[in-house]
Amino acid sequence: MYSLESIQHRISTAFTCTQFLNEPVKLYEPIIYTLDQGGKRIRPVLVLLACDLFGGDIEKAVFPAMGLEIFHNFTLLHDDIMDNAPLRRGKETVHKKWNDNTAILSGDTMFVLAYEYVAKTDPALLPDVLRLFNDTARKVCEGQQYDMNFETQTNITIDKYMMMIQLKTAVLIACSLKLGAIIALADPVDAENIYDFGIELGLAFQLQDDYLDAFGDTSVFGKEIGGDIITNKKTFLFLKAFEVAHEDDLIQLTHYFYSPEIPLTEKIFGVTRIYQKLRIDEYTRQEIELHFQQATRILDTLNVKEEFKEEIRGLSLGMVGRNK
Ligand code: IPE
Ligand code: IPE
Ligand code: MG
Ligand code: MG
Ligand code: MG
Repeated sequence: MYSLESIQHRISTAFTCTQFLNEPVKLYEPIIYTLDQGGKRIRPVLVLLACDLFGGDIEKAVFPAMGLEIFHNFTLLHDDIMDNAPLRRGKETVHKKWNDNTAILSGDTMFVLAYEYVAKTDPALLPDVLRLFNDTARKVCEGQQYDMNFETQTNITIDKYMMMIQLKTAVLIACSLKLGAIIALADPVDAENIYDFGIELGLAFQLQDDYLDAFGDTSVFGKEIGGDIITNKKTFLFLKAFEVAHEDDLIQLTHYFYSPEIPLTEKIFGVTRIYQKLRIDEYTRQEIELHFQQATRILDTLNVKEEFKEEIRGLSLGMVGRNK
């Protein structure tokens, strides 16, 4: 068994030892800029942790794990254009530092690189690995489209929101764990169970991201606070607020979200104040806890020695208690 720290170190070394630079430099520079920033590297670490959990050789999982991390970073380049986000990991986003075309094309290249790395696996496992990755990549795009559609729709429910975040975020977390299980030649039932665990963990993780978007600290979170409020994202916070608000609060919320003439700083300030008044932070924390507990229950029933689960439990706790 490897410790979480040693697996994190293995992934970090894998990236620092890889040379992504190529010609034309303008295509590859933004890729290196993005991958060098690191981020939390949650997905590749989950691949290795799951591989180790089921007794596999983690070295066989390193390239496919890098593939998922490159895929994740590709989605961020395009997501930041779609969300018009100026800041990520405390630095200018690629589309702001360069331009939209650069973020599109360097992103596309990362999507290809992701496939190259995911495919560096035992040929006997390749059909299963590619089926899983294709299914995941397509679902992420579907989730991203729902996320965009919902910005301008007014009939979104919390159930629809959960469906959307399952697609845009949770499936990649789940895929990371299942990929590790496949490489470790785990029992298919165990591989499905760890996938289901990843879905619940991924839902909690995106809820935490939405929470931090309103209540986080830019200097730690690394992203602009209030981005979801600016773009009228139908987050759990937004939907819960409209569910519990009455009279004045409801009028004010409607006013802030649906009057385009309001200055953005005023909108963020006004909405956050109402969120606080309505205790939306507490509702969100409860919802995070609910999905985390569901994830924990699945992990508890997993047919693996209890002490082997410790490292995954540790990372999971960090994913929902994070402030960056
Ligand atoms: C950001 O993912 C996008 C979401 C799905 C919330 P992370 O929070 O894992 O981003 P990095 O890679 O650590 O920066
Ligand atoms: C991102 O959701 C999900 C994907 C990138 C697929 P967000 O738009 O909330 O992620 P951040 O907050 O920009 O990292
Ligand atoms: Mg975004
Ligand atoms: Mg987005
Ligand atoms: Mg977000």
